[in-house]
Amino acid sequence: MKEKLFAKFKEFFGSTEGAGFYFSPGRVNLIGEHTDYNGGHVFPCALTLGTYGIAKRRTDRSMHFYSINLDSFGVVEASLDDLTNKAAYGWANYPLGVVWAFAQKGITLDTGFDMVIWGNIPNGSGLSSSASLEVLTGVILTDLFCIDRFSMTDLALIGQYSENNFNGCNCGIMDQFAVAMGKKDHAIFLDTATLNYEYAPVELEDAKIIITNSKVKHSLVDSKYNERRQECADALAALQKELDINTLGDLDMDTFEKFKEVIPDPVKVRRAKHAVAENQRTIEAVKALKEGNITRFGELMNQSHISLRDDYEVSCEEIDILVDLAWKVPGVTGSRITGGGFGGCTVSIVENSAVDEFIKAVGRGYQEKTGGEAEFYTVEIGGGARRIPS
Ligand code: GLA
Repeated sequence: MKEKLFAKFKEFFGSTEGAGFYFSPGRVNLIGEHTDYNGGHVFPCALTLGTYGIAKRRTDRSMHFYSINLDSFGVVEASLDDLTNKAAYGWANYPLGVVWAFAQKGITLDTGFDMVIWGNIPNGSGLSSSASLEVLTGVILTDLFCIDRFSMTDLALIGQYSENNFNGCNCGIMDQFAVAMGKKDHAIFLDTATLNYEYAPVELEDAKIIITNSKVKHSLVDSKYNERRQECADALAALQKELDINTLGDLDMDTFEKFKEVIPDPVKVRRAKHAVAENQRTIEAVKALKEGNITRFGELMNQSHISLRDDYEVSCEEIDILVDLAWKVPGVTGSRITGGGFGGCTVSIVENSAVDEFIKAVGRGYQEKTGGEAEFYTVEIGGGARRIPS
C-alpha cells in the first residue's frame, strides 16, 4: 500500500523527497455507548484497520488533498487564506477542519502541504473513519511543521473540536481519543469526565472479537445523534434542580431511580436511564474483564444492546436482526450494536470453536431476512496514530 500511496503522490505532486508516511486507526467500542457526552466511561480499542497518509510541505499557501478511495473528487485544493467548510470539498473538509482547529488554538501554518490518503475502514460503518482522518491530519501537521505543543490527547481534542465546530457533528471524545491513544492488544478504559484513562489488556485466549457490518446507514444519523445529546442535557438540567451533579455519569442507578420523576418527559427519562445504566455497566464490564470473567462481560454487552435498542432508541431493524441472530449461536458470549447507531456494525465475542458457525448462521440469516450481505472482520487491536518510519 505504501508503494501505491507514494506513486499517487508522485503522479500529482512530484517528488516524495521530504514527505512523511503516517497511519491512523479506526476504532471499535466494546462497551460504553452514548456515555462520552454524558461524563461517563467508555471502553474502545484501536483497530489495525485505518487510514494511511503521505504528506509533504509546500512552499506556497495552497493545500492539496487526494483520496485514493474517493478519487472521483480528484485533487481538492484549498488555501490557508480561506479556512472555511465548503460542500465541494467533500471528505477534504475533515483534514481542512483540523488545519482550521490548529489556527483556532493559536497555531497558524506559514505554508500549505500536499496530502494523499488511502484507508481500509469500511465507509459509513461506524468504525470512525472521520476521527481516524482527523487525528491523522493532526499527527501530520505536528510532524511536518515541527509543532511540539500538542500531546496526543490534545490532538484527540482538536479532532473533536474540528468535527463539532467545522463539520457540524456534535460528537463526544471517544472516537478521537481511541484513535490517538490506541495500544496494541489493549482497550482503553476512559473516564470522559476527567480524561483519566487506563489500558486494559484484551487477551481472549479462547475467543475472538468479531465486527459484523450491516452495511446500512440510515439518514438523519447526525441529527438524531444531536437530538439524543439534547435530550440528555435536558434530563440533566432537570435532575440538577434536586441533585448536586455535573453529568449523568455522576449518578448511580439507585439515586437515578429515586429522583427520575423530576424529569418531566418520559422519553427523556429513558434516555437518561440508558446513560446512567450504561456507565455503570461499563465500569462493571471492565472489572469483569480484569477478573477474567468473560461470561459476565458478554452479559453486560447484551444488556447494553437492549438498553440502546429500547431506552436510547439508536438501533435499527437490520442491526437488531444481526444481534438476535448472534445471540442464538451457541458459543457467542455477547453481541451488541457499536458506535453511534442507526446502522453500522455490531461487535460480538465469539468462542474460537464457534466462529465459523457464527459467520455462516448470521450471514445466512441476515441475507434471508434483509436481502443484504453482512461483512465480518476479526478484530486485531492495534496502536494509535503515528508516523511510520521509512
Ligand atoms: C459516535 C460519536 C462518539 C460516541 C458514539 C456513541 O461514534 O462520535 O463520540 O458518542 O457515537 O457512543
